[in-house]
Amino acid sequence: MSLSPRFFERLKSWQDLVNGALEHMVPRLSGPAARLTEAMHYSLMAGGKRLRPILVLAGAEAVGGSFQRLLPLACAIECIHTYSLIHDDLPAMDDDDLRRGKPTCHKAFDEATAILAGDALLTHAFRLLAHEDLEAAFPADRLFRVLRLISEAAGLYGMVAGQMADLLAEGRPVSPEELYFIHHHKTAALIRASVLAGAVLCGADPEEERALSDYGWKIGHAFQIVDDILDLEGDEETLGKPVGSDLEKKKATYPALYGLEGARKEARALLQGALESLELFGPEADFLRDIAYYVLERKL
Ligand code: IPE
Ligand code: IPE
Ligand code: MG
Ligand code: MG
Ligand code: MG
Repeated sequence: MSLSPRFFERLKSWQDLVNGALEHMVPRLSGPAARLTEAMHYSLMAGGKRLRPILVLAGAEAVGGSFQRLLPLACAIECIHTYSLIHDDLPAMDDDDLRRGKPTCHKAFDEATAILAGDALLTHAFRLLAHEDLEAAFPADRLFRVLRLISEAAGLYGMVAGQMADLLAEGRPVSPEELYFIHHHKTAALIRASVLAGAVLCGADPEEERALSDYGWKIGHAFQIVDDILDLEGDEETLGKPVGSDLEKKKATYPALYGLEGARKEARALLQGALESLELFGPEADFLRDIAYYVLERKL
């Protein structure tokens, strides 16, 4: 199956919506904080697919929710994601010089500023989760659930733990279980939380939540497998980040363990599983279905 031009139009219009919201939900300050907010905007507005915020909106749509009021939540998750990229690129971590087609934050500014821009984006995400508009639009118990969901996915039970495991696995062979742990935590957790968060706020029932959670884990794993493949055979110009970085750092990746063909096969199986997870939904989940294909077929 190939994705229709309509899908890409919709993707673009949701990306524009998220970009517009980010521009005003992350302030630009003057005085000593000017450099900080400049660095935050530099990385945040450099491009990026906006997959996670779009999943927030698409998850809400699947359960019949209206997504206009979800923008602070969508932006919060993009802030967490962008912070993770800034820190991931630091010399102490993956030591990469190019991100979203531009010099990485620590190259354009300096290491200390990049660390602080990441810290501020992460903290600001929680300010956005406590946004007055969310408070006015949704019941407090749902907001609390979303807070738990996102904190767990981003921190020690999720992405940060995955990043720790990723670094500890550098330069040595890893077992299938270890690689699964890395992908599950560093990438799949936040992707799964994104799909679920919008749906939870909009009042998904337990069956819908289970289906979306399953879908989220599967596309999350597929996403990191494809990221690993693109690091080997992607185009640096299109990707906007270095190719071959994983090999250089001897990273634990899916192709390193299973070969390129094994990696492609697993990504296809995950896509199939993700589509099956959505069986209880009708056309209201079509965008999520297309996103699953997109995760597999993307070149960026
Ligand atoms: C890159 O994420 C980091 C991973 C988790 C693999 P994306 O590929 O979503 O990066 P942007 O947001 O489009 O730049
Ligand atoms: C990073 O994985 C996942 C994050 C949580 C940032 P990678 O290190 O493979 O991401 P890229 O390839 O640098 O975008
Ligand atoms: Mg990394
Ligand atoms: Mg990296
Ligand atoms: Mg990568």
